[in-house]
Amino acid sequence: MPGGAGIDLRKTLFGLACLALVAGCTTIVPAEGPEARHGDEAAAPAARPGYAADGTLQPWVETSHGEIRRVSGAEGCVALTFDDGPHPTLTPRLLNLLAEENVHATFFLVGQRAQEWPDVVRAISAGGHEIGNHSWNHANLTQLENSAITRQLAMTDAAIFAIIGREPDIVRLPYDAGSPRVLSLIDRPVIFWDIDTLDWKAGSVGEIVDSAVRRAWSGSIVLMHDIHANTVSAVRGVIDGLRARGFEFVTVSELLSGRPCRVSTVVAAAGP
Ligand code: NI
Repeated sequence: MPGGAGIDLRKTLFGLACLALVAGCTTIVPAEGPEARHGDEAAAPAARPGYAADGTLQPWVETSHGEIRRVSGAEGCVALTFDDGPHPTLTPRLLNLLAEENVHATFFLVGQRAQEWPDVVRAISAGGHEIGNHSWNHANLTQLENSAITRQLAMTDAAIFAIIGREPDIVRLPYDAGSPRVLSLIDRPVIFWDIDTLDWKAGSVGEIVDSAVRRAWSGSIVLMHDIHANTVSAVRGVIDGLRARGFEFVTVSELLSGRPCRVSTVVAAAGP
């Protein structure tokens, strides 16, 4: 995506994140937020989630304390997300599979690993997938000083920029570990998830497929990790199962746009 479009996208995402924050942007955005850096006027006051300041209905980004976990309005869309890579062999295997299925996903990369395997990062980007920032060395950011948190994210941005010429528009916090202080230091949407496949607990392929397929809603964000072989083995089943329920796959930034993927109704999940 060209630089100008990237800035627009970031502004759009930022705006959505602001809309979603009942408490307002002041708790999330530092004084020199992206709006100020781009020379725009100050961000509008917080509106009711789901509505713009002029009262028009907007995509509703579901949040709690600034955490984006699922996106309402994105009817029929699901975002598959893969954390903790890149992995030198498993990530390329996953990329081949996603290409065969014509699915675009989102990869939250650990900066140190991105620097170690730049070819894999390039392949992720070339495949049309989105890349997010998952800290430099998978630190628990809540346990770090402000300056160290900023450095974790900035080093990862720089490593990814050096490889693909673009910084991530979105961030995911390692260990689901966030706090108002951590969130206040991040000037981009912080993406959590509503569907945890628990693949990191060495779940079987069947368990991973089942947890993703059965529990997904429109706008769901599915958490997986492309550093586990079982996860990669499960992805085809996840894609087949979600497609059978009527879902289409988008990147997280596409999901945040709130645009519906299709008109037809998503089939309700079987069982509890
Ligand atoms: Ni992680």
